[in-house]
Amino acid sequence: MATATLDTLLANYADLSARELDDRIARAKCELGSRLVILGHHYQRDEVVKFADYRGDSLRLSQLAAGRPEAEYIVFCGVHFMAESADILSGDHQTVILPDLNAGCSMADMANLEQVEVCWEALTAANSGKILPVTYINSTAAIKAFVGRNGGAVCTSSNARKVMEWALARGEKALFLPDEHLGRNTGYGLGIPLEQMAVWNPREVDGGLTGDQIGDSRIFLWKGHCSVHMRFSPEHVEHARKAHPGIRVIAHPECSWEVCQAADEVGSTEYIIKRIVEAPPGSAWAVGTEIHMIRRLAHEHPDRMVVSLDDCVCMCSTMFRISPQHLCWTLESLCSGRVVNRIQVDPETKGWALVALNRMLEIR
Ligand code: 13P
Ligand code: SF4
Repeated sequence: MATATLDTLLANYADLSARELDDRIARAKCELGSRLVILGHHYQRDEVVKFADYRGDSLRLSQLAAGRPEAEYIVFCGVHFMAESADILSGDHQTVILPDLNAGCSMADMANLEQVEVCWEALTAANSGKILPVTYINSTAAIKAFVGRNGGAVCTSSNARKVMEWALARGEKALFLPDEHLGRNTGYGLGIPLEQMAVWNPREVDGGLTGDQIGDSRIFLWKGHCSVHMRFSPEHVEHARKAHPGIRVIAHPECSWEVCQAADEVGSTEYIIKRIVEAPPGSAWAVGTEIHMIRRLAHEHPDRMVVSLDDCVCMCSTMFRISPQHLCWTLESLCSGRVVNRIQVDPETKGWALVALNRMLEIR
């Protein structure tokens, strides 16, 4: 669909009140019934996530989609790589939709296939092929497929440690894509010294590494990051402890190594939620992750203090692109028999990406 048409369509939704949007979304959802499943990532805003049949992290949501074969339409309120994963894991008869195609992930976009192939050629040549690639689920389907073709596996922030152990046991060395920080935090947690983890910068010749670094390093970290999680600093940790003595600091492993070292606990989205849900009333938490999830946790657990590690709002602006207007437009289009914003991974890429995803699921 041409952008002009899309803009005109959305303009029809711009003036609707929150109440009208709620009513129309609810009506369209009801009309589509079991033909539709709406998935909402933890970082989505309340006005959108309240319509989700399931709320979860990226992997859980994709698996849930695969477990609902009767749903013809999977509307993924999240970002592009998540909708791709849902398309890879769901059946051929299912259609995955991303309400706003501009909802990308800047981290996933930091590794493209050509750059990764150049890096891989250099690393495998220098290391006699004894290296396996691992990619964080926050990567494009093309990168997942590359990893599948080259004997590697996908990981999430919950299982990165196990997947990295698996890769190092089989390949001696690993290339970790596309998040430098999750890779470093995971490698360090496995006892690998910082000096044995080299950062490959795709914008420099030979990744900006010397021959010795390429030969001697154990883990190669792709130079990519999450701009949301990189906002947190060790000073924020210090400040939170001064402002609220006794507070526990919990950080997502996409935060820098320095922040993770300073925090009391480090864990994935699901881990953070579990810790706070199970925490005793009266406990206090400073959380280093996306603000919508933190605010929701605070709202749902008023007897615990849950604040962001940074007073300035750390919001994922691409997650925020999914608006009630986009959701309403998507669902009403489906009701009128029109599929908009379909995410469809080509069969070749899908096949290899699935190999990498399945390897992850088999690692215990
Ligand atoms: P999850 O894999 O935990 O859903 O996290 C996705 C993400 O984008 C974190 O920044
Ligand atoms: Fe990507 Fe960061 Fe947003 Fe997660 S929070 S979707 S890694 S930009």
